[in-house]
Amino acid sequence: MSKIYDALRRAEKDRGRPRPKERETQPRPARVSEGTRVLTGMDERFRRSLLNLKNAIDSEMKAKDSRVVLFTSAVRGEGKTTIVASLARILSLGDSQKTLLVDCAIRDPQLHRLFGTGNTKGIVEHLSGRASLADVVRSVDEGVLDLVPAGSCEDADAVQPLFASDAFRLFLKEAASRYDYVLVDSSAVLESPETALIGSRVDGIVLVVHAAKTRREVIKRAMLMVQKLDGAFIGTVLNKKKYYIPERIYRRV
Ligand SMILES: Nc1ncnc2c1ncn2[C@@H]1O[C@H](COP(=O)(O)OP(=O)(O)O)[C@@H](O)[C@H]1O
Ligand SMILES: [Mg+2]
Repeated sequence: MSKIYDALRRAEKDRGRPRPKERETQPRPARVSEGTRVLTGMDERFRRSLLNLKNAIDSEMKAKDSRVVLFTSAVRGEGKTTIVASLARILSLGDSQKTLLVDCAIRDPQLHRLFGTGNTKGIVEHLSGRASLADVVRSVDEGVLDLVPAGSCEDADAVQPLFASDAFRLFLKEAASRYDYVLVDSSAVLESPETALIGSRVDGIVLVVHAAKTRREVIKRAMLMVQKLDGAFIGTVLNKKKYYIPERIYRRV
């Protein structure tokens, strides 16, 4: 914990400092609304940081056959979707490992836009018994990555209990048996009750922190919440701290 707080303190100090020069020369950040652009021409430092994140996940979960990892944050807009989608792409391109990306961000589903798939059938339809698993898994990124979009979740409060259901437990079990990595995008933990439900059923949780922006007290509250969930907390990614990258991952100490 203390390392994490040190990191947060350092990040707070960085706030307000003049931007380093290299920032001006970096490519503009891709936006989720820019379709698959975030997945092409990935910045080299960004790519390396994601490989570090992969290593941190792997070493935290050495003993597991599959790695079901939830990505969340304290509040919205901290970069969960950007990080989880980019990591999924890196994993799927790397070697023969199979990766499934699941959009459980029912309050702001974005992965279908990012990967250019439809969103009429997704996890919501599957968990409510209206679609089979095969119906909701889309092959994306030239066939190397599988994605389950969120589906129709206009009324997120009405569908959120689905994540407490047996159907969700079975879905994760089935996904874990078929894939090496199952990466789950979610809504912010302090704003969405279903995120804690999801977090209590995964193997690990990564908290994405927009380090130069989110208030420390808010991050602490989110961290405490995540740490209560069956000890599955892997660490914190400081996103957009200095570069357009998740600079490093702070592991639990
Ligand atoms: N590391 C990053 N580099 C560049 N842009 C980023 C990065 N992380 C997030 N963004 C941008 O910030 C915005 C919010 O990110 P997003 O991933 O949608 O957040 P969340 O899923 O947590 O709500 C998006 O426009 C996204 O492109
Ligand atoms: Mg998102």
